[in-house]
Amino acid sequence: MSSGVVWCRTAYWQGATGSDRSGATPLWSAVATSSRPWRGRNRVESGVRGESPAVYAAVMVVSAHVVQRLRAAGCVFAEDEARLLVDAAADAAALERLVARRVAGVPLEHLLGWAEFAGLRVAVEPGVFVPRRRTEFLAESAVSWVRPGSRVVDLCCGAGAIAAVVAASVPGVRVWASDVDAAAVRCARRTLAGTRAVVCEGDFDAALPAELAGRVDVLVANVPYVPSEAVAWLPPEARWHEPRAALDGGVDGLAWVRRLVGIAPRWVRPGGVVLFEVASGQVETAVGVVEAGGLAARVRVCDERDAIVVVGRVPRRG
Ligand SMILES: C[S@@+](CC[C@H](N)C(=O)[O-])C[C@H]1O[C@@H](n2cnc3c(N)ncnc32)[C@H](O)[C@@H]1O
Repeated sequence: MSSGVVWCRTAYWQGATGSDRSGATPLWSAVATSSRPWRGRNRVESGVRGESPAVYAAVMVVSAHVVQRLRAAGCVFAEDEARLLVDAAADAAALERLVARRVAGVPLEHLLGWAEFAGLRVAVEPGVFVPRRRTEFLAESAVSWVRPGSRVVDLCCGAGAIAAVVAASVPGVRVWASDVDAAAVRCARRTLAGTRAVVCEGDFDAALPAELAGRVDVLVANVPYVPSEAVAWLPPEARWHEPRAALDGGVDGLAWVRRLVGIAPRWVRPGGVVLFEVASGQVETAVGVVEAGGLAARVRVCDERDAIVVVGRVPRRG
């Protein structure tokens, strides 16, 4: 066992993927000769712990090495990422490809094909905006307005993260999600498969069914809100791997917020709400936009997630 592990430690650091150059038992051969196929560390931990200590130990060595490479590349959550990558890889070669791409700056979620959001798995393919943990607060805020039978629209839905949380929240809720980006729509359809949510593709609200007009209880939208000039200062993962159209909110970042508030009275019933996320420096202007649109504004803050949500309530008639 030990010779195999030691060989592997050297070979793996050099980028080898399991062919035996030393005559010692290579790690991946040891793993492969297990009576169960290697399917990632978690599965190895639960599946072969009592059966094959050699395999278990070998995978631990590989995992430790992946952690080291990720840490050297600046990944803050290197242990968590390593566990996910090891678990996702079918074999050593696949793991090497995943780690190399992660070290080169590809977002973890694009490699895994999914992102965790409020305890749910959201399908994310390369080139699609990765749902941010802070946006869980926007989703939760939307849910706080949902009742059985509510009609909820998630505009600019991306991979469908907010719509998924809403769809899972209250029995009988009806959800529509829409985005202009075909890849995002594909992901949203996968994320929302198995729910009754309807996913549309089109510019902003253009693809929503006309019969929803004036009948929406909750209109939630995580619209792009990064000021155009600030896009250049985003982390490379966002700039290189997410579409600019998913990030750029115009000169002050609030161009899409203005458009959202502008369409809200057409879709939202009297007494219903429109909600969106902003950055701290945008709150005052955003509240002004909401009030200028004839809606009653309220601001909700979650310090823990560094998240700010603006809620606009459409006035009741009379
Ligand atoms: C900040 S991302 C948010 C995605 C998703 N709601 C989330 O929180 O993960 C903004 C989204 O707006 C979409 N978008 C940009 N321009 C759009 C337009 N004209 N019509 C509809 N969606 C648009 C992008 O494709 C992207 O998915």
